[in-house]
Amino acid sequence: MDTRMQAFLLHLVLASFVFLSSIRDGYAGITSSYVRPEFPSVDIPLNHEAFSVPKGYNAPQQVHITQGDYDGKAVIISWVTPDEAGSSHVQFGTSENNFQASAEGTVSNYTLGKYKSGYIHHCLVDGLEHNTKYYYRIGTGDSSREFWFKTPPKVELDAPYKFGIIGDLGQTFNSLSTLEHYIESEAHTVLYVGDLSYADNYEYTDVGLRWDTWGRFVERSTAYQPWIWSAGNHEIEHFPYMGEVVPFKSYLQRHTTPYLASKSSSPLWYAIRRASAHIIVLSSYSPFVKYTPQFEWLGEELKRVDRKKTPWLIVLMHVPLYNSNEANYMEGESMRVVFESWFIKYKVDVIFAGHVHAYERSYRFSNIDYNITSGNRYPVPDKSAPVYITVGDGGNQEGLCSRFMDPQPEYSAFREASYGHSTLEIINRTHAVYHWNRNDDGKKVPADSFVLHNQYWKPFLADM
Ligand SMILES: [Fe+2]
Repeated sequence: MDTRMQAFLLHLVLASFVFLSSIRDGYAGITSSYVRPEFPSVDIPLNHEAFSVPKGYNAPQQVHITQGDYDGKAVIISWVTPDEAGSSHVQFGTSENNFQASAEGTVSNYTLGKYKSGYIHHCLVDGLEHNTKYYYRIGTGDSSREFWFKTPPKVELDAPYKFGIIGDLGQTFNSLSTLEHYIESEAHTVLYVGDLSYADNYEYTDVGLRWDTWGRFVERSTAYQPWIWSAGNHEIEHFPYMGEVVPFKSYLQRHTTPYLASKSSSPLWYAIRRASAHIIVLSSYSPFVKYTPQFEWLGEELKRVDRKKTPWLIVLMHVPLYNSNEANYMEGESMRVVFESWFIKYKVDVIFAGHVHAYERSYRFSNIDYNITSGNRYPVPDKSAPVYITVGDGGNQEGLCSRFMDPQPEYSAFREASYGHSTLEIINRTHAVYHWNRNDDGKKVPADSFVLHNQYWKPFLADM
């Protein structure tokens, strides 16, 4: 036997040992001890080119788009003009420099304490064709700017699509690294799980100014593909010291959502269908207990899900329902108690959340038998349960949450305190490929991945 053959056999024996050990240990999860070198957790200085202001008088800035209807044949285009209201007109078409069509939007501004916002434009562009690249122009004269986006394929059973998932991004050099790596991943749409600018960590007029810098910072992606927004605690902005007590004021002025298309009564919770996915956005910081508008809406929306049209059922929220980090531990417990049984009943495929500044993925577990008299107290393996994924590792100024509960609970499959983003690439009705990518020394490194089997079309395959 030559040495290569010996080495091969040794490798085989070791591999079987590792495989058998993992079977014996059942749900043993991984706590990655990897510690990546990171940039300091401080915001990028105001005069940095990452926040550069486009040239020209009243030039549109902070351009961002989101889906504008239920099925992906419309977008809402939003932007800010700094000097005067100007035009809310969008010109668009399917070839460059040939804008055959146009739409008219609205403009408004707001104050936050002594801060006065620029002129915020929102324009619905609808009646689009599926799977088509559109070019659009906003602003006037020499200050006008052009961008493009691609509409998703028609909503149908096997429509492939690649989503990115980003949370808790903020505006540090770590945030920039995450954003650049996300753009490299060539996903088509961001599912954003809340906590956007972290502007609320500032005071007085700096709050508004840091919303503006964030809008310019993310424009490199948000002007070209929809970001599906959900709100986090940093969007609440409760500032009694400057007389500002209306929750979500800046967030709602700047970000619109197509909530009416899914019969929601609030832009903070809504649903869209995109390619083969039905995406439900929830608000962790709006009332959700029985009889509240969000509760009633979710009950109705889940009934509308048609797995024969959209096999993939994805839920976004800010606060994770399963989290074994010491930070924000059990903050999602109240929503878990209210909604978890529905997520099991309707076979939700995956729930993405943020809030905890680290990465964690669960096995399929549930805790629906728990009650306050005689219920089982511990989460148990449940093939009908969603996979819970926390991607609160975008890179904001608050830094990483690196202390995990020890021992790692059985529901926790993989956890690591590094910055990064995720992608979910839907292949067909049965399979999707999931990756978590860690930012690492300027490189995007796949650090956790698995094949997600659809809960409706592959009910007997377990993703354990
Ligand atoms: Fe948060």
